[in-house]
Amino acid sequence: MENNRPSWTSRFSFILAAVGSAVGLGNIWRFPYIMGQYGGAVFLVTYLLLIVTICFIPLITELAAGKFLKKEIISAYESINPKFKLLGYMNPITGILISSFYFIVGGWIINYIVLSFSNTGIENHAEYFGTFTQSPVATSVYTLLFLFTCIFFAARGVKKGIEFANNTLMPMFAVILICLICFSLSLPNSHLGLEYMFKPDFSKISGHMFLAALGQALFTLSIGMGALFTYGSYIKDDKSILKSTYTIILSDTMFALLAGIMIFPAIFSFGLEPNSGAGLVFVTLPYIFTQIPHGNLISAAFFILLFAAAITSGISIIEVPIASMVERFKLSRTKACVTLFCLIAAIAIPATLSFGVLGDLKLFGKTIFDFLDFITSNILMPLNALFLCLIAGWALKLRGVTLIKNKFFAKLFDIGLKFVVPALLIILLYFGLK
Ligand code: TRP
Repeated sequence: MENNRPSWTSRFSFILAAVGSAVGLGNIWRFPYIMGQYGGAVFLVTYLLLIVTICFIPLITELAAGKFLKKEIISAYESINPKFKLLGYMNPITGILISSFYFIVGGWIINYIVLSFSNTGIENHAEYFGTFTQSPVATSVYTLLFLFTCIFFAARGVKKGIEFANNTLMPMFAVILICLICFSLSLPNSHLGLEYMFKPDFSKISGHMFLAALGQALFTLSIGMGALFTYGSYIKDDKSILKSTYTIILSDTMFALLAGIMIFPAIFSFGLEPNSGAGLVFVTLPYIFTQIPHGNLISAAFFILLFAAAITSGISIIEVPIASMVERFKLSRTKACVTLFCLIAAIAIPATLSFGVLGDLKLFGKTIFDFLDFITSNILMPLNALFLCLIAGWALKLRGVTLIKNKFFAKLFDIGLKFVVPALLIILLYFGLK
């Protein structure tokens, strides 16, 4: 059984895949607009502090627990204590729910790539975005297309599919990002964007901002649904988790910052507002693209960049339910992928339609899309992360000394894992529910 499990070709391919999972819409779509809403640099500093001191703990715990237990997550939890089986199930279920809304945004990206290549001359981008997201057929088709792409890579297995996707898409992502940054910085008054990002405004400090930074940090590091646990379980035994964790955190943060450096100078150069929320990438940027020479080309490059980032994250999300179906329910990888395609489609299509035809259908006062976003980001992911820390700290008795050489930091890690991180997650959950 153990020997039938897939494993990474090398330490490098594991790190690249984990970075591919972490770097996604969270970095390029969510990070800039949340940072914009919470006052730029102050948010950034809080976020950075949280990442290196707090979020580092559940991240290394997920990877280490996966590496030690070497099972898909349900059986892994069950092997620690049969009572934990249900908590294990919550991870693949969260994955299916996250993908159902993440992939809708993936579908929008495909639409904007197509749009970049066709000369449509859209006048009002906000209006266009509204009309497009309401159109049932186009959005459903694009969502399914995005889902299919992720499933396609996943079906080919860990080495031929996941590694291949990351090995090709991540370098492409990095090259496009650097080109777009050069372009953005070359625009007049681009320094205003950098000032906005890096000049702290301490009046913006608030508990709310702190929680937003914590939530963003968990989401961007893919913590709280077993994605990194599953990737960790494919590591062969002789790897140093600590170094890999640092590399993942540093790369993810670097890419989020670079995304900001790509986006804010352009926004300020055109005298636009940086805090337009989710529409920043789909409304404000497309407007800028129509105002600049070779805008179509830049637009295509930008959305292809977003597509590459979203696919590598999407693959990591669906690997959790796939691993469970293959190992626990003994389905072939292909059958597991087909089943998962149907499952996600069955949730994602109604969620897509909730922008238009199904807009009146409300779950707890929210549209299906908003509801999925809400229960995954505000409830299930912090809850999964909480259970993971508690199980690893108290039941599995994962200790800092096995991961960190420095005795002092190892001790701090233990306290963090058993008390500090769970307490913060409970606070996050409490305010997330309000
Ligand atoms: N981290 C990814 C992003 O920034 C999203 C993501 C991938 C994710 N896998 C995850 C989020 C698992 C939570 C859990 O876009």
